[in-house]
Amino acid sequence: MSTPMLEIANLTIGFESTGKVLVDGVSIAVDEGSATALVGESGSGKTLSMLAVMGLLPPGISVLGGDVRLEGQSLLNLDAKARRRLNGSEIALVPQDAMAALNPTLNLQQQFELVLRAHRKLSTAQAKQRTVELLEQVGIPDAAARLRSYPHEFSGGQRQRVMIALALSCGPKVLIADEPTTALDVTIQQQILDLIATLRRELDMTVMWITHDLGVVAGLADRVAVLRNGRLVESGTADEIFFHPEHDYTQQLLAATPTLFDADTETEGNTR
Ligand SMILES: Nc1ncnc2c1ncn2[C@@H]1O[C@H](COP(=O)(O)OP(=O)(O)OP(=O)(O)O)[C@@H](O)[C@H]1O
Ligand SMILES: [Mg+2]
Repeated sequence: MSTPMLEIANLTIGFESTGKVLVDGVSIAVDEGSATALVGESGSGKTLSMLAVMGLLPPGISVLGGDVRLEGQSLLNLDAKARRRLNGSEIALVPQDAMAALNPTLNLQQQFELVLRAHRKLSTAQAKQRTVELLEQVGIPDAAARLRSYPHEFSGGQRQRVMIALALSCGPKVLIADEPTTALDVTIQQQILDLIATLRRELDMTVMWITHDLGVVAGLADRVAVLRNGRLVESGTADEIFFHPEHDYTQQLLAATPTLFDADTETEGNTR
C-alpha cells in the first residue's frame, strides 16, 4: 500500500494541565487526491483534530499521543520555521469561522499580500495580480475592483469564497475545509460545495471536509470517518457509510440528515 497523503495515527489530544482527553486515539488515513469527510456532532473533536494537523491547537491543549504524518513525515515536532513553511503551501485550512479568521483592519489586497509574500518572493504588483486571479478562481465578481474592500463589505458567502481563495493562494496539496458552509443559506452552501469540488479536480488537491451534516458531503466524499465524543465510531468508503452503516450512531446521524434523502437519487452512483 502506498503512503497516505495525510495520516492521523492514534491521535490523542487533551488538556496539558489535567491530562483530560478531548480526542481519543483517532486514526484516519487520507489518500492522495481523495476527498475524505470527517463527520460528527458538535463537540465531537473535529476542529481540534484538524487544528492538531495544522499545529494550531489552542493554548493549554496539546497532542498527548499518536502522530500526524504528511506523506510519511511526522508533523508534530516541527519547529516554528518549518511549520510556517508547511502551513499554506503544503496543507491549508479554511477555518470554521471565516469572519474571525480574516483581519478586519486589512483590505483584501493587504490580507493576500501578507500570505503570498510570506511564502513566495513576489513584488507588490505580482502579489496583486495573483490576488485577482485567486479571487476570480473562487467566483468573486469584478475582483480587481474589490481589492480595496474590507471583510465586512462582503456577504457571508463571498467571505467564505475569500477564505477559500486565501487557503489556495500558495497551492496546497491538502485542503482542509472546516464546516465551510454552516453559516450560509442552502443555495449558497451548494455553490461553495461545488466550488471546492471543482477546485479539487482542477488543482488536483486532496480534500478533507469537516461537517456535522452527512448530507452535505453525500456525493462529494470518497471516504467518511465518523467521530463521536472524541472517538472514531467508524470509517469506510462513502458507500459503506451511507448505505451500510455498522454503528447505531452513524444510522442516527443519517436519519437526522433530511438533505441526504432529498439528494439520494442523484448521489447513489456518484460517490466517485
Ligand atoms: N479552546 C478550547 N478550550 C477548552 N476546550 C475546548 C477548546 N476547544 C475545544 N474544546 C473542547 O474540545 C471538544 C471538541 O471540540 P471541537 O471544537 O473539536 O468540536 P467540533 O467537533 O469541531 O464541534 P463543532 O461541530 O461545534 O465545531 C469539545 O468538548 C470542546 O468543548
Ligand atoms: Mg468545529
